[in-house]
Amino acid sequence: MSQKPAIFIARKVFPEVVAHLGHHFQVDMNESDEVLPPAELIARLQGKQGALTTGSERVDAALLAACPQLKIAANIAVGFNNFDVPAMTAAGVLATNTPDVLTETTADFGFALVMATARRVTESEHFLRAGQWNKWSLDMFAGAEVHGSTLGILGMGRIGQAIARRGAHGFGMKVIYHNRSRLDAALEAECKASYVDKATLLAQADHLILVLPYSASSHHAIGAAEIAQMKPTATLINIARGGIVDDAALAVALRERRIAAAGLDVFEGEPKVHPDLLTVPNVVLTPHIASATIPTRKAMAMLAADNVIAYLTQGRPVTPLNAEIIGAGARA
Ligand code: DGY
Repeated sequence: MSQKPAIFIARKVFPEVVAHLGHHFQVDMNESDEVLPPAELIARLQGKQGALTTGSERVDAALLAACPQLKIAANIAVGFNNFDVPAMTAAGVLATNTPDVLTETTADFGFALVMATARRVTESEHFLRAGQWNKWSLDMFAGAEVHGSTLGILGMGRIGQAIARRGAHGFGMKVIYHNRSRLDAALEAECKASYVDKATLLAQADHLILVLPYSASSHHAIGAAEIAQMKPTATLINIARGGIVDDAALAVALRERRIAAAGLDVFEGEPKVHPDLLTVPNVVLTPHIASATIPTRKAMAMLAADNVIAYLTQGRPVTPLNAEIIGAGARA
């Protein structure tokens, strides 16, 4: 009997995902769940045809050259800025991600941050826990209105659309959005969202939520100049990727109350957080958990596993990012 191909799981995943992969492959896994340094990741990938990665592992030309047997890297994430996709395509290595399975869960969390930020949930909890609450008063932690306000969405892919539906249909918000390409009229009507240019988005949003992918062109899409165009009463929410917001400029703006508050799930250089963000009160900070429910994280890991199985056993991945390599362009 021929040996099963070998694959590597770069971070600890759910046992049922390992078992599922084990029906098809010899499975090696980073049980420690620590992010492996690049040299160690390369060492563990020797002889492996497939890898399950997360946003913390970089797959670039150097890794691809050092791992000549690798045929697929399946990211357990919808974002894939840790992949150098052109380098993967050039090397004939398939890249996959996990769209759709996390859309609604991530949109829920986007709204959790809108609510927590506008209504000052964590700031007031810290006050209470610190034993500072000794009387009720009319304006204590009075925040911004969510229902009926204007929700601005920068980036209108699946998650942006799911957020728009929540805002428009659930909270009676006026929804405006800016995106590289405009949605078709039927989708705009369903989301009750109106397309505006970026300057209008910045100027009119009461709550601005970022849901665009990270790339060189979206680096610091929100910096001091953009924040200066926002209402002083506005809130800014980032559930997209660190680096889209200039965190240092945001910390200054929050301290000087140039905008009212921010809610951040992602950070430049995470898991490090800009120290100034840790000292301003008007920011809600969470550790990149927007898609973190057990069912959704299991679905993401299972989809990544299905991509590796479908590609290595039948040549037909479920959610490829560079399908053009399949066939003649793929590593043998
Ligand atoms: C994603 O799926 O891109 C989330 O941010 C988790 O990395």
